[in-house]
Amino acid sequence: MSDSVVVRASPSFALAKYWGKADREANLPATPSIAITIDSLWSQATVTLADASDGAGVDLVTVDGSAVPAARVSPFLIALRKELPELRGVLHVAATGNFPQAAGLASSASLFAAVAFGAASLVGRADDLQRVSRIARVGSASAARAVFGGFSSLLAGAEAAQAELNADHWPQLRLLVAIVDTSAKPVPSRDAMERVAATSPYYDAWVRDAAATYREIRDALYARDLDRLGEHMRLSYLRMFGTMLSAAPPINYLRPGSVAVLHALQQLRDDGIAAWETMDAGPQVKVLSTATDLPRVRAALVASGIPGDRLIEAAAGDGPWLVAGEPPPS
Ligand code: DP6
Repeated sequence: MSDSVVVRASPSFALAKYWGKADREANLPATPSIAITIDSLWSQATVTLADASDGAGVDLVTVDGSAVPAARVSPFLIALRKELPELRGVLHVAATGNFPQAAGLASSASLFAAVAFGAASLVGRADDLQRVSRIARVGSASAARAVFGGFSSLLAGAEAAQAELNADHWPQLRLLVAIVDTSAKPVPSRDAMERVAATSPYYDAWVRDAAATYREIRDALYARDLDRLGEHMRLSYLRMFGTMLSAAPPINYLRPGSVAVLHALQQLRDDGIAAWETMDAGPQVKVLSTATDLPRVRAALVASGIPGDRLIEAAAGDGPWLVAGEPPPS
């Protein structure tokens, strides 16, 4: 059995947002979400199984050399051991990525998807994506979706995500990620979700409305209708932001640069260019467009003040993949 693998996984950007928990302990989502797993960005995890008798110590997950606090990673490691009982020994994970961590670019989604996939690979279970998704969800619910390439959904209360459409479903579709600010977010998404659920008078309305928005977005995605998708995708993130702005104390991830991008995008749409944004728990703006319109969108965002090297182009991509280390014969 191979005892070390190197795997990569890409972020899952929600078109319809998961925001709020049906069960905090189990980390089950309160709202249904549908997302695109993108190419271009990835987290990489070297997952090693060491022999406890060799003084390997305890399970450890590091990101860019810093240990992830036990409180954050323990429930995930417990779920991983439960779902993969064949995994014996001490687990060491060294993770990194090709994009800034904790800045609202879904790094926890790609991180936990990579680690769950890597651990499953070590014991020949990487084909069981439902299981890998269940494990990843305990780390971060958005990570459950990142286990699948293309487009995937995580329904309200679900333990695992489900594949919706392959990456080649919509060859014209492109995503332009505008990195407005790379500093770590002031409030981590998990804390923000909790504060919103505890203090925003709009939270219950958000959860009630989410299923209808999810259905609109899913239908528009299947129909490859970018304007319909964009309109409802925008509603999803702005209603999510509404719960944050109405929390006590309020949470506002918008930076001046984000607002400048939003206005530039409105101008593009007024000019007939397909350019619809979504945002997450951070200041970055993700723009859905087409391969044809992308150069116009890029030029407008540069003119709005985003340096060209802070604009990342992406399309729908693959689920997690093995970079090194042979999986055992199944
Ligand atoms: C705004 O998956 O990071 O990106 O499950 O608490 O780890 P935890 O939260 P996380 O939240 C992602 C929220 C979001 C929307 C989304 O990806 O659906």
